[in-house]
Amino acid sequence: MIQRHRRLRKSQAMRNIVRENHLQLQDLIYPIFVTHGNNVQNEIESMPGVYHLSLDRLHSEVNELVQLGIQSVIIFGVPDEKDEVGSQAYAEEGIVQRALKLLKRWYPQLVVIADTCLCQFTDHGHCGVVCDGDHGPVVDNDQSLELLVKTAVSQATAGADVIAPSNMMDGYVHAIRQGLDEAGYEEIPIMAYSVKYASAFYGPFRDAAKSTPQQGDRKSYQMDPANAREALREAQSDLEEGADFLMVKPGLAYMDIIYQLKQNYDLPIVAYNVSGEYSMIKAAEDKGWIDEKQVVLEMLTSFKRAGADIIITYFAKDVARWMRRDEER
Ligand code: PBG
Repeated sequence: MIQRHRRLRKSQAMRNIVRENHLQLQDLIYPIFVTHGNNVQNEIESMPGVYHLSLDRLHSEVNELVQLGIQSVIIFGVPDEKDEVGSQAYAEEGIVQRALKLLKRWYPQLVVIADTCLCQFTDHGHCGVVCDGDHGPVVDNDQSLELLVKTAVSQATAGADVIAPSNMMDGYVHAIRQGLDEAGYEEIPIMAYSVKYASAFYGPFRDAAKSTPQQGDRKSYQMDPANAREALREAQSDLEEGADFLMVKPGLAYMDIIYQLKQNYDLPIVAYNVSGEYSMIKAAEDKGWIDEKQVVLEMLTSFKRAGADIIITYFAKDVARWMRRDEER
């Protein structure tokens, strides 16, 4: 007797109609790094195809994204001035605020997400304000929250459609929700980096954002990769504090966490396909060891299968180009 699954795999058309998960361009968010200066388009060494862009180069980049059909971007700032309290993170004319204003003026329809964190803006590279603890520097939670709220409100004022706080300090979602509401931004959603592991897969990003902590690490406020149930607790508290999206970061090594969040919560689940996951594939492709397109599409489809509704990925542009080429065939 021929088995049913064999009948269902008979032809390409048959495989298409029984396919359970589909990768769509509208599910993807493309990260953009903005920096000071004129005519700057510096390729990040460990992330071929990803650039630090000055604001005068932003228009052509975003124009290309929009033409390719990408509907959403997340903005990271690479400031040239850093200080102890990350003041450029919440400056009215900070690099991110200026980029947000331009983007919303040029493309009101584009969904523009602001990464809300201090680590790119502090000279010590931590995600908040640091003070002396018994065993070296520690992050001052309350003071950090105040500055984070200030950052979120300034980003909303500049036009951000979504606030994506990534520092995971205690009470950060609640504080930001309250701050946004008080400033009149009740309608701006929060995409919480709810489940963020202390991961070595961020290596290339930290080089890119020049945000490696000078002393210590982020293990006091990011999760231990060995823990899964803790992820559910983090997600639960962010949900209760008012998060509108739950994010898992990194993605590839944490598919089980994506799956569990999807099973337990009805908020949109976001997977962050982080820098190290990008760099590994680009490097192997460069050596001719893998088929980049097939590997990337398989990986991104697997995020969907695990339960991600949305994927933040440096591959968004590549995917858009591949899809376009396939359509033209
Ligand atoms: C922190 C932040 C990081 C990433 C996004 N936001 C770095 C970190 O937590 O150290 C990493 C993203 C990536 O690796 O692609 N604001």
